[in-house]
Amino acid sequence: MSPSKPRKITIFDTTLRDGEQSPGCSMNLKEKLEVAQALVDLGVDVIEAGFPITSVGDFEAVRQIANTVSGATICGLARCREQDIDRAWEALKYGKDTRIHVFLATSAIHREFKLRMDKAEIIRRAVEGVKRAKSYCDNIEFSPEDAARTEHDFLCEVVEAAIAAGATTVNIPDTVGYATPTHFAQVIHMLVNRVPNIDQAVISVHCHNDLGLAVANSLAAVENGAGQIECTINGLGERAGNCSLEEAVMALKTRSDYYQAETTINTQRLVPTSRLVSNITGMVVQRNKAIVGRNAFAHEAGIHQDGMLKEPTTYEIMRPEDVGFTKTDLVLGKHSGRAALADRSRALGYHLSDEQLDAVFVDFKKLADKKKEIYDGDIAALIEQRNTEI
Ligand code: KIV
Ligand code: ZN
Repeated sequence: MSPSKPRKITIFDTTLRDGEQSPGCSMNLKEKLEVAQALVDLGVDVIEAGFPITSVGDFEAVRQIANTVSGATICGLARCREQDIDRAWEALKYGKDTRIHVFLATSAIHREFKLRMDKAEIIRRAVEGVKRAKSYCDNIEFSPEDAARTEHDFLCEVVEAAIAAGATTVNIPDTVGYATPTHFAQVIHMLVNRVPNIDQAVISVHCHNDLGLAVANSLAAVENGAGQIECTINGLGERAGNCSLEEAVMALKTRSDYYQAETTINTQRLVPTSRLVSNITGMVVQRNKAIVGRNAFAHEAGIHQDGMLKEPTTYEIMRPEDVGFTKTDLVLGKHSGRAALADRSRALGYHLSDEQLDAVFVDFKKLADKKKEIYDGDIAALIEQRNTEI
């Protein structure tokens, strides 16, 4: 039997909107245009360029990105309010490929304390918002904010009404990162099975990372029928951030055997794009961050380094080149073994006999106990020192 064709998962990047909402991550117009172009080069399908009603700067960024950046759908965010939607369209209207994203909170907590609206009012405003956006543009996304904490019956009702009003994508946000993978999988499964017109829209997910589960929750949703993941470069976003684009994409790619899904991301652009966003926002990428962190393909333990030198797949499930690193980094330190030292010495141009290597290895271990990392210059010095003695 031939394997089934992988399902295409739309990658919706919100670095320029939710990502920019990370405290201290504001970007100016020139920087936003640069990031938008990098996202196109990376191969994302949709760029959420901003929230035009929030400021003149945000409006202008969405307008210029929509007018000048091609190769992805450009999206602007709006609450379910006339002024918001009109302003979003004002920013998007000269773009070739655009989407309006309208949202309204649906959970009991938000209804009662933030919006002071009952369920009927929420449905009415959601429908009005989607219809107004639809009067401008065919491509409409609707998000019931805080969907993960919304009563299931009501969530089904809102989603069905939004699709009937013209939403082409329904996005299910876990706004406060409250969901767990099994819980979120059930929410998506429930919507797929209970909303009668669900096949007229793409199901999207937008997961926050408050419990460190945004990527896991997004993947659980994909397994249950979600066709779009909302994510950001380096997982930037409100509070603990959003689903990290690089992690979700590489999980789908590395485990395509399991997910039977694919994206159009040019994965070799992941590291350069991560670095660009980090430099622009000033948000440092933690060293051990999966996929794009400096340590993601670095090995220090002797047993691991020996395995890597014999066959990289012993300790690496992805090739560093596939995400945009130049090569695996065998970090020499106190956990490293003789094989890694021999390999580095050869790379530095020293051809040591077994006896010479043994002697240098003794010195190397002594030095490694005093230093966190041994650099090429240290190794050269150890060898030179021994050469004069041997
Ligand atoms: O987290 C959230 O609910 C959002 C919506 C606007 C989609 O960012
Ligand atoms: Zn969000």
